[in-house]
Amino acid sequence: MNWEALLAPYKQVVEELKVKLKGTRSQFEYDSSHSPIEFVTGRVKPVPSILEKAKSREIPLENIETEIYDIAGVRVVCQFVDDIYTIVKMLRRRNDFKVIEEKDYITNKKPSGYRSYHMIIEYPVEMVQGRKFVLAEIQIRTLAMNFWATNEHSLNYKYSGSIPTEIKERLQRASEAAFKLDEEMSMIKHEIQEAQRMFRRKF
Ligand code: GTP
Ligand code: MG
Repeated sequence: MNWEALLAPYKQVVEELKVKLKGTRSQFEYDSSHSPIEFVTGRVKPVPSILEKAKSREIPLENIETEIYDIAGVRVVCQFVDDIYTIVKMLRRRNDFKVIEEKDYITNKKPSGYRSYHMIIEYPVEMVQGRKFVLAEIQIRTLAMNFWATNEHSLNYKYSGSIPTEIKERLQRASEAAFKLDEEMSMIKHEIQEAQRMFRRKF
């Protein structure tokens, strides 16, 4: 398998999406309105993780590109839960890619306690060889959801996916706490935004 050739379009997609989404962040700031985007990150799934996922899902290597949706992954992190839905609406309206699937793990949180909004998109990328359509996953979540998911991910890694029950229960409680934090912050959103508008230009 020529991984470099296979992953090249995905690298391109991640870079393009990062530029585009960071661009919308600046646009909101010029308008001096609250930006629904706090930060944007992206990554191409490392080859060992692709192989592991293919193996665990019994995906033949020749089907990797159609059956693994998150080879290209971009994450949009927001301050408030509302912001997530602002981004979702904005992404649906775009015409530089097509939304294939949406999963709302905020309304329906996962048994682990995971919360996030996922979009699978089909993105046309111009390669030297011509246009190629690749799948990419956009995860949209708040800072609190991100904090939780990052820590849970580390623990999953540490315990190879079998987190001890006691720690799992703590994670459940932490997820509840993150949910409450998001709720509380939403209640004082306007206060916070007003303060941030006042001070933004100073640094
Ligand atoms: P994978 O979970 O990626 O195998 O694919 P899926 O088809 O089950 O899609 P899903 O939407 O459940 O997950 C996609 C991605 O969301 C994952 O690769 C993770 O980045 C993230 N994710 C899903 N569930 C969890 C979770 O319980 N904890 C953490 N930390 N991340 C999760
Ligand atoms: Mg999953």
